[in-house]
Formats: sequence, C-alpha cells, structure tokens
Amino acid sequence: MLSMPGNAEGTSGTMHRILVADDDAGIRSLLRDFLEGEGYEIAEAANGVAVLDALKNQSDESPDLVLMDVRMPDKSGLDVLREAPEAARAAGHLPIIVITGYGTSNVAIDAMQFGAYDYIVKPFDLDEVLNLVERFFDRRRLDDQVEPLSVRVGGRDPNEVIIGNSGAMREVYKTVGRVARSDATVLITGETGTGKELVATVLHRSSSYGSGTLVKVNCAALPETLLESELFGHEKGSFTGAINQRKGRFEMANKGTIFLDEVGEMSLATQKKLLRVLQEREFERVGGSVAVKIDTRVIAATNKVLEQEVEDGRFREDLYYRLNVISIFLPPLRDRGDDIPLLVEHFLDKHRFSAAAGPSRISQGAMRMLLEHDWPGNVRQLENVIERATVLCQGGVIADEHIDLSGADNRRFVDIGQRLRKGASLSELLAEVERRALSEALTQTDGDRLAASVMLGLDLSEFKQRLTEFEIA
Ligand SMILES: Nc1ncnc2c1ncn2[C@@H]1O[C@H](COP(=O)(O)OP(=O)(O)OP(=O)(O)O)[C@@H](O)[C@H]1O
Ligand SMILES: [Mg+2]
Repeated sequence: MLSMPGNAEGTSGTMHRILVADDDAGIRSLLRDFLEGEGYEIAEAANGVAVLDALKNQSDESPDLVLMDVRMPDKSGLDVLREAPEAARAAGHLPIIVITGYGTSNVAIDAMQFGAYDYIVKPFDLDEVLNLVERFFDRRRLDDQVEPLSVRVGGRDPNEVIIGNSGAMREVYKTVGRVARSDATVLITGETGTGKELVATVLHRSSSYGSGTLVKVNCAALPETLLESELFGHEKGSFTGAINQRKGRFEMANKGTIFLDEVGEMSLATQKKLLRVLQEREFERVGGSVAVKIDTRVIAATNKVLEQEVEDGRFREDLYYRLNVISIFLPPLRDRGDDIPLLVEHFLDKHRFSAAAGPSRISQGAMRMLLEHDWPGNVRQLENVIERATVLCQGGVIADEHIDLSGADNRRFVDIGQRLRKGASLSELLAEVERRALSEALTQTDGDRLAASVMLGLDLSEFKQRLTEFEIA
C-alpha cells in the first residue's frame, strides 16, 4: 500500500490551521474537539469581525481554512465573504467553507458566488465536515484553477428559488454558483418536471448576463423552418410571408442569455446552424448575407439522453460537445424523497388559497401519501397536486382525500398566459396548439389518419403535410 502524507499536515510539516467561526460556543467546541482529534490546529472566532481580522492579518498565525456559520451577529458570513481581502483569495475562491441552515438554495448559491470554497448544511455530520476539509487541502495541494468569482448583490423573485437539500441538489447549487460568472455554455438534463427551466432562470439571474434578457425558445414547439427563422430571424422576402425583416431570438438575447429548451428535438439542419453560432458567435438571418455578431450566454436543456441521440445519429456529436461544456443533471424526484417535505412547504406557501389566507397545512397521512408516491411527473406534478389540494381544502388542512395522485399529466397543456409571460411569441403559441391538436386527433382515432383529418376538418393531404412539417410520426 502507498503511504500518503497525513492530510492534516502541510508541505512544510506544520499543521494546517483551521479557524472555526460560529456564535454558538457548543458548535465551536464540537468542531474543535473533532478536528483536533484529526490532527488539525484549531482557532475559534465568535463573530464575523474576528474572521475578517484573521483573514486580513496575513501572518503565520492566519488560518489556512475557515469553517464559518453564515448566521452570526455583527457581520454575517455573507458579509465576511463580501468584505474579505482580495489577498485571501487564491485559485478564485476564499479558503472558507460556509455552514448554512437547512433549507433553500439561495444562501448556498450566494455563498459560492461570493467566493466560498464550498458549503455544508446544518445539521451536518462530522464525517461530512472532515471529507470537505480534506478535499480542500487536497485540492489546494493540486492548486486547482477555478474561474475567479466576483460579487453580485441583488434580490430574488421568490418564484425563482430552487428548493432541495439532497446531495444531488447541493451539487447543482455549487455548479450554478461556480459557473454563473463565466460565459460557458451549460447543458441541463433531467426528466420532465425536474426543474430544468427553473435552474436555467436562476443561472441566468446570477450570471454576468443577468441584467440582459433571458430569451427562451422551445425547440420542440416549432417545425424546422419556423424554428430557424425564430432563432436567427429573417430578411424581408426571404420566404412567403416574410413581409418585413425580423430579428431572431439570438439577436434579442444579445448581452443576455438564450435558453434552448428541448434542444434534443432540433433537426439536424438546424443543429448545424446552431453549431456555427456557438463556434463563431455569428450567423446570418434566414435569406440574408450579412453576418450578425452576438455576445450571448447559451443554456440548453433536454429530457433526452443526448449521448444516445448522438449514437443513433439524431444529434450531432460536435454540437453535443459544444453544448455540454458544463453539465447539470437534475435527478428525478423519486431519487430525492428527502426533498419532498421542503418542496411541499414551499408550494403551500406559493399557492395560498387566497391572498389573505396563510399557507394551508398538511396532515401526516397526506404527507405520507406524497412521500410514498414515485412522481413520474417530478416536481411539476408535485406542485400541481399541492395546488389542487389547497383549493379543495379551501386553505385549511390538507387531508388524504384532497390528494389526487391519478396525475393527469397536463404538462403539454398550453397555458397561454403563462407562456406569454415566459416570452413565447404568437407563432410559437399557435404552433404549440397546432402540434397538440394534430397529435391529440391521432391519439383519439388510434392513429387513423383519415379519421383524424376529418376530425380536424382538413383534407387528408393537408393533414399529412402538417404532420411532416411538425415531424409527427
Ligand atoms: N427544485 C425546485 N424547487 C422549487 N420549484 C421547483 C423545483 N423544481 C421544479 N420546480 C417547479 O416545478 C415546475 C416545473 O419545473 P420546470 O419547468 O423548470 O421543469 P423542466 O425540467 O423544465 O420540465 P420539462 O422537461 O417538462 O420542460 C415549475 O413550476 C418549477 O418552478
Ligand atoms: Mg422545461
């Protein structure tokens, strides 16, 4: 067996110094006893000012790593991160592991953005702390390069909060915090309803493009030709109906972010054009010859397994690599049951029965039903179930009978109000409705094209043409 130098020992043979900062003396001594037992040298701080002093005082006494609670009197942990001296930053982050309360993502994302090395959630277990501490020193030894993070302060829309405390979700917050300030392309994958669009929105808001527009395009909603002109715009007269020059979504997203939703549905021809935009950051409008330059962050999402699509020849491999610079996988809800109570609480608050009423409460029996369900529609389905239950129980206590898990999957239902708020254009909406009508007619007639065309009041040939246009088999 290889013998490795003890982790608690620096290269010079001196012990690593860790400053434990928490206003709770009990937690300080718990961490002190444990980490001293592991061979670290421990100092304590009871408030944020003391941590700042220790970071400013670059001497032999200064800590190699700070384990810091976010909630402290005088200066909070976030204040400390914000005000920490530049000199204390190395490889793009501060030597600080933040300890946050159990709950939402915001503090974690903020802490990562303000340059924390990592974070840990209370109540924590000591092995987890040790693991992180060891990783910190390992990584410092490797002098890993991480993009410098700079500071952004700002409020958040309560609807744009990612809830979840499971290990997988914590990884998501870390990645979001780390990559937000870069312009790297991000690919978000996960089953339907796992929060891909939500994560894209939060990523955009926390990014350096956050003051620009977030333009969302659903690549599945439009047939190929429309999608191209939607993305890249067109010149006057470039095709029948192109009466005026029109800017595409990429141009609208200049200095902002474009969110390419369901990118796995894009035709190979459009994929080729997208690849060029990603490579060269320029394109021509449909029917045009002038190159339009853009500075746009690209976030793509798909519920398909793109590796498989590549293998089957439906997705360009080169485009896959261009999109997948950073990937964020959102696990299905059934794999993170611990997040269910937190999500339920969040949705009860979000969907109050009336503006005046407080959030509904939920009975243990009803909660058990939610915990035992396997959620094919993931978080979206959970949200729908809670929203319906708050109406049924009229803002009171949600009991078993208010929980409907039969789960009519209404995700394809076009909620026009919501889609408009999310930036859908009329052509997108009409195409979504048309696509839905076409496939619904086929479903209702068991795939009988003639019957379906009659149902829709179309000639068979016209019906077939539209099926081809929408790539409906
Ligand atoms: N972790 C979460 N915390 C809070 N709300 C969430 C979370 N994940 C999803 N939601 C909510 O669930 C709904 C569905 O999420 P979203 O639209 O982002 O999913 P999606 O992965 O894009 O789904 P699809 O693949 O079907 O488009 C939204 O209302 C969203 O706000
Ligand atoms: Mg989505």
